Amino acid sequence: MRHLMSPLDFTTEELDRLFDLANDMERHMDKYAHVCDGKKLATCFYEPSTRTRLSFEAAMLNLGGKVLGFSDAGSSSASKGESVADTIRVISCYADICAMRHPKEGAPMVAASRSNIPVINAGDGGHQHPTQTLTDLLTIRSLKGRLDNLTIGLCGDLKFGRTVHSLIHALSRYENIRFLFISPEELRVPDYMTDMLKEKGIGYTEVIRLEDCIGDLDLLYMTRVQRERFFNEEDYVRLKDFYILDKDKLALAQKDMLILHPLPRVNEISVEVDDDPRAVYFKQAQYGVYVRMALIYTLLGLENS
Ligand code: NCD
Repeated sequence: MRHLMSPLDFTTEELDRLFDLANDMERHMDKYAHVCDGKKLATCFYEPSTRTRLSFEAAMLNLGGKVLGFSDAGSSSASKGESVADTIRVISCYADICAMRHPKEGAPMVAASRSNIPVINAGDGGHQHPTQTLTDLLTIRSLKGRLDNLTIGLCGDLKFGRTVHSLIHALSRYENIRFLFISPEELRVPDYMTDMLKEKGIGYTEVIRLEDCIGDLDLLYMTRVQRERFFNEEDYVRLKDFYILDKDKLALAQKDMLILHPLPRVNEISVEVDDDPRAVYFKQAQYGVYVRMALIYTLLGLENS
């Protein structure tokens, strides 16, 4: 049995197969409409979510399966003091696969170690968000045609943004990737991540002003300042509008640069940018459904059936 805790749990060859499958699902939805008939997905979300939970549910419904679950810890037995380890053993009796989001780093890993069904980490605190990364990689591969030879700028909250951490890990396995980390001093990428890049000999530059580097980028990955992970509101208020991508800044970018964002957006991308063909964040949300369909199919072992 296989779980998904980190984007590195799949080799790059396995990822290629997963993305080919997701692209096939996108083109031939009908072919896969009943492959999960009789199967159930549990979504256990101890933290708020719109896209991740609903895209998991849409993915399972598209495959003919059914869904059950909870969307806030207050309505689950966690509020009575039940451990994640006990909860997953019970969920294993009700469902065939589980997607879990939790505010504590490592909680889905604890669940996976006690589970009789595949567990997918749907975001654990400020740590990892592997299925967002699968979404990001599928978007880049489908729209750029490659995952290597890219200059990627990650902009905003690089300290607390788990999507950023997962994406850096995942992209660091491809050839000739150059990272530009665009953030205020206080929200820089954690040292353990830059240490990993140094160890692997992967180039990165830390920049404060987006205008100074936007012209060099093949991809710009914008992120929201993660209010819920700040220790005090004053710091959040000071930093929340540090970056606002608008038409003027975008005029400095290459004509084929893609703008990605895991969403939700707050103010960091002005709505006037949404109609620009380079803005692909809503398409990215759509790719999130295809890649989760492919993931559920793969973790349930259906390609061999
Ligand atoms: C992200 C998350 O939950 O980390 N959202 C998502 O799943 N698409 C990004 C965010 O909340 O800023």
